[in-house]
Amino acid sequence: MNPQSNIDFRIIKFESESYFEELQLRDRVLRKPLGMSLFDENLDLEINDCHIGAFSNNCLVGVLILTKLSNSEMKMRQVAVDDGKRGLSIGSQLVAFSEDYCKKSNYSRIVLNARATALEFYKRLGYTIISDVFFEIGIPHYKLEKIL
Ligand SMILES: CC(C)(COP(=O)(O)OP(=O)(O)OC[C@H]1O[C@@H](n2cnc3c(N)ncnc32)[C@H](O)[C@@H]1OP(=O)(O)O)[C@@H](O)C(=O)NCCC(=O)NCCS
Repeated sequence: MNPQSNIDFRIIKFESESYFEELQLRDRVLRKPLGMSLFDENLDLEINDCHIGAFSNNCLVGVLILTKLSNSEMKMRQVAVDDGKRGLSIGSQLVAFSEDYCKKSNYSRIVLNARATALEFYKRLGYTIISDVFFEIGIPHYKLEKIL
Protein backbone atom coordinates (compact mmCIF):
# COMPACT_ATOMS: atom_id res chain seq x y z
CA MET A 1 0.00 0.00 0.00
CA ASN A 2 1.15 3.57 -0.61
CA PRO A 3 1.87 5.39 2.63
CA GLN A 4 -0.42 8.36 3.24
CA SER A 5 2.17 11.13 3.56
CA ASN A 6 0.06 14.24 4.28
CA ILE A 7 -0.71 13.13 7.82
CA ASP A 8 0.19 15.14 10.94
CA PHE A 9 0.69 13.35 14.21
CA ARG A 10 0.14 15.30 17.40
CA ILE A 11 -0.81 15.07 21.04
CA ILE A 12 -4.49 15.69 21.74
CA LYS A 13 -5.23 17.76 24.81
CA PHE A 14 -7.75 16.22 27.22
CA GLU A 15 -11.23 17.74 26.76
CA SER A 16 -10.13 19.82 23.74
CA GLU A 17 -12.26 19.89 20.58
CA SER A 18 -9.99 17.18 19.12
CA TYR A 19 -10.52 15.03 22.23
CA PHE A 20 -14.29 15.01 21.60
CA GLU A 21 -13.58 14.14 17.94
CA GLU A 22 -11.35 11.33 19.28
CA LEU A 23 -14.19 9.94 21.43
CA GLN A 24 -16.48 9.84 18.38
CA LEU A 25 -13.83 8.02 16.33
CA ARG A 26 -13.14 5.48 19.09
CA ASP A 27 -16.85 4.87 19.59
CA ARG A 28 -17.43 4.41 15.84
CA VAL A 29 -14.44 2.10 15.28
CA LEU A 30 -13.99 0.22 18.58
CA ARG A 31 -17.40 0.06 20.27
CA LYS A 32 -20.36 0.40 17.87
CA PRO A 33 -19.38 -2.69 15.79
CA LEU A 34 -19.61 -4.71 19.05
CA GLY A 35 -23.01 -3.25 19.91
CA MET A 36 -21.47 -1.17 22.71
CA SER A 37 -21.08 2.53 23.42
CA LEU A 38 -17.89 4.23 24.60
CA PHE A 39 -20.10 6.78 26.32
CA ASP A 40 -21.31 4.15 28.81
CA GLU A 41 -17.75 3.91 30.14
CA ASN A 42 -16.16 6.01 32.86
CA LEU A 43 -13.47 7.98 31.02
CA ASP A 44 -12.42 10.22 33.94
CA LEU A 45 -8.95 8.66 34.28
CA GLU A 46 -8.17 9.56 30.66
CA ILE A 47 -7.03 12.94 31.93
CA ASN A 48 -3.82 11.11 32.97
CA ASP A 49 -3.22 9.52 29.55
CA CYS A 50 -1.34 10.67 26.49
CA HIS A 51 -3.69 10.85 23.49
CA ILE A 52 -2.04 10.83 20.07
CA GLY A 53 -3.95 11.70 16.92
CA ALA A 54 -3.32 11.32 13.18
CA PHE A 55 -4.83 14.23 11.27
CA SER A 56 -5.52 14.53 7.55
CA ASN A 57 -6.34 18.11 6.52
CA ASN A 58 -6.95 18.85 10.20
CA CYS A 59 -9.51 16.06 10.43
CA LEU A 60 -8.86 13.23 12.92
CA VAL A 61 -8.42 9.91 11.07
CA GLY A 62 -6.55 7.81 13.64
CA VAL A 63 -5.93 7.69 17.36
CA LEU A 64 -4.23 5.79 20.13
CA ILE A 65 -3.79 6.26 23.87
CA LEU A 66 -0.70 5.69 26.02
CA THR A 67 -1.27 4.92 29.70
CA LYS A 68 1.71 5.00 32.05
CA LEU A 69 2.16 1.73 33.97
CA SER A 70 5.52 2.55 35.59
CA ASN A 71 8.54 4.79 34.96
CA SER A 72 9.69 2.38 32.25
CA GLU A 73 6.45 0.91 30.85
CA MET A 74 3.59 2.29 28.79
CA LYS A 75 0.36 0.55 27.82
CA MET A 76 -0.86 1.29 24.30
CA ARG A 77 -4.63 1.10 23.92
CA GLN A 78 -7.65 2.19 21.87
CA VAL A 79 -5.74 2.03 18.56
CA ALA A 80 -8.21 3.00 15.83
CA VAL A 81 -8.06 4.19 12.23
CA ASP A 82 -11.18 5.47 10.46
CA ASP A 83 -12.82 2.89 8.24
CA GLY A 84 -12.22 4.72 4.95
CA LYS A 85 -8.55 5.39 5.76
CA ARG A 86 -7.29 1.88 6.50
CA GLY A 87 -4.47 0.18 4.63
CA LEU A 88 -2.70 3.50 4.00
CA SER A 89 -0.11 2.93 6.75
CA ILE A 90 -1.70 5.52 9.04
CA GLY A 91 -1.91 2.93 11.85
CA SER A 92 1.77 1.94 11.44
CA GLN A 93 2.90 5.57 11.38
CA LEU A 94 0.79 6.32 14.45
CA VAL A 95 2.40 3.43 16.35
CA ALA A 96 5.89 4.52 15.18
CA PHE A 97 5.22 8.11 16.31
CA SER A 98 4.08 6.81 19.72
CA GLU A 99 7.15 4.59 20.09
CA ASP A 100 9.39 7.63 19.39
CA TYR A 101 7.43 9.61 21.97
CA CYS A 102 7.94 6.81 24.54
CA LYS A 103 11.66 6.50 23.79
CA LYS A 104 12.17 10.25 24.13
CA SER A 105 10.40 10.08 27.50
CA ASN A 106 12.71 7.22 28.62
CA TYR A 107 10.19 4.38 28.49
CA SER A 108 11.75 1.07 27.50
CA ARG A 109 8.73 -1.22 27.06
CA ILE A 110 5.27 -0.98 25.52
CA VAL A 111 2.57 -3.55 26.31
CA LEU A 112 -0.88 -3.83 24.78
CA ASN A 113 -3.90 -6.11 24.63
CA ALA A 114 -4.43 -6.83 20.94
CA ARG A 115 -7.65 -8.04 19.43
CA ALA A 116 -7.01 -11.36 17.66
CA THR A 117 -8.27 -9.67 14.46
CA ALA A 118 -5.45 -7.09 14.67
CA LEU A 119 -2.66 -9.48 15.72
CA GLU A 120 -0.90 -9.46 12.33
CA PHE A 121 -0.82 -5.66 12.29
CA TYR A 122 1.16 -5.59 15.55
CA LYS A 123 3.39 -8.55 14.67
CA ARG A 124 4.52 -6.71 11.52
CA LEU A 125 5.49 -3.78 13.73
CA GLY A 126 7.73 -5.95 15.94
CA TYR A 127 5.35 -6.76 18.81
CA THR A 128 5.61 -10.23 20.42
CA ILE A 129 2.85 -12.32 21.98
CA ILE A 130 3.38 -12.87 25.73
CA SER A 131 0.07 -14.47 26.81
CA ASP A 132 -2.46 -17.10 25.95
CA VAL A 133 -5.70 -15.94 24.40
CA PHE A 134 -8.07 -14.18 26.83
CA PHE A 135 -11.39 -12.38 26.50
CA GLU A 136 -11.92 -8.66 26.91
CA ILE A 137 -15.12 -6.80 25.90
CA GLY A 138 -16.37 -10.22 24.76
CA ILE A 139 -13.74 -10.85 22.07
CA PRO A 140 -10.42 -12.77 21.98
CA HIS A 141 -7.26 -10.83 22.77
CA TYR A 142 -3.54 -11.50 23.29
CA LYS A 143 -1.10 -9.55 25.41
CA LEU A 144 1.84 -8.25 23.36
CA GLU A 145 5.04 -6.40 24.17
CA LYS A 146 7.76 -4.48 22.42
CA ILE A 147 11.08 -3.61 23.99
CA LEU A 148 12.13 -0.19 22.73
C1 LIG B 1 -5.70 -2.28 13.11
C2 LIG B 1 -5.70 -0.88 12.47
C3 LIG B 1 -5.40 0.16 13.54
C4 LIG B 1 -4.60 -0.86 11.40
O1 LIG B 1 -4.52 0.47 10.85
P1 LIG B 1 -4.15 0.69 9.31
O2 LIG B 1 -3.85 2.13 9.13
O3 LIG B 1 -5.19 0.11 8.44
O4 LIG B 1 -2.82 -0.19 9.19
P2 LIG B 1 -1.61 -0.03 8.17
O5 LIG B 1 -2.12 0.47 6.86
O6 LIG B 1 -0.54 0.77 8.82
O7 LIG B 1 -1.17 -1.55 8.02
C5 LIG B 1 0.15 -2.00 8.26
C6 LIG B 1 0.26 -3.45 7.83
O8 LIG B 1 -0.56 -4.26 8.66
C7 LIG B 1 -1.53 -4.95 7.87
N1 LIG B 1 -2.79 -4.93 8.61
C8 LIG B 1 -3.46 -3.86 9.05
N2 LIG B 1 -4.56 -4.24 9.73
C9 LIG B 1 -4.56 -5.59 9.70
C10 LIG B 1 -5.43 -6.57 10.22
N3 LIG B 1 -6.51 -6.26 10.93
N4 LIG B 1 -5.11 -7.88 9.99
C11 LIG B 1 -4.00 -8.23 9.30
N5 LIG B 1 -3.15 -7.32 8.77
C12 LIG B 1 -3.43 -6.03 8.98
C13 LIG B 1 -1.66 -4.15 6.59
O9 LIG B 1 -2.09 -4.97 5.53
C14 LIG B 1 -0.24 -3.65 6.40
O10 LIG B 1 0.56 -4.66 5.81
P3 LIG B 1 1.70 -4.28 4.73
O11 LIG B 1 2.73 -3.48 5.50
O12 LIG B 1 2.19 -5.61 4.26
O13 LIG B 1 1.01 -3.46 3.68
C15 LIG B 1 -7.05 -0.58 11.76
O14 LIG B 1 -7.31 -1.59 10.82
C16 LIG B 1 -8.25 -0.47 12.70
O15 LIG B 1 -8.52 0.61 13.23
N6 LIG B 1 -8.97 -1.59 12.88
C17 LIG B 1 -10.19 -1.61 13.69
C18 LIG B 1 -9.92 -1.36 15.16
C19 LIG B 1 -8.90 -2.33 15.75
O16 LIG B 1 -8.96 -3.54 15.56
N7 LIG B 1 -7.94 -1.75 16.49
C20 LIG B 1 -6.92 -2.50 17.17
C21 LIG B 1 -7.42 -2.89 18.50
S1 LIG B 1 -6.23 -3.89 19.37
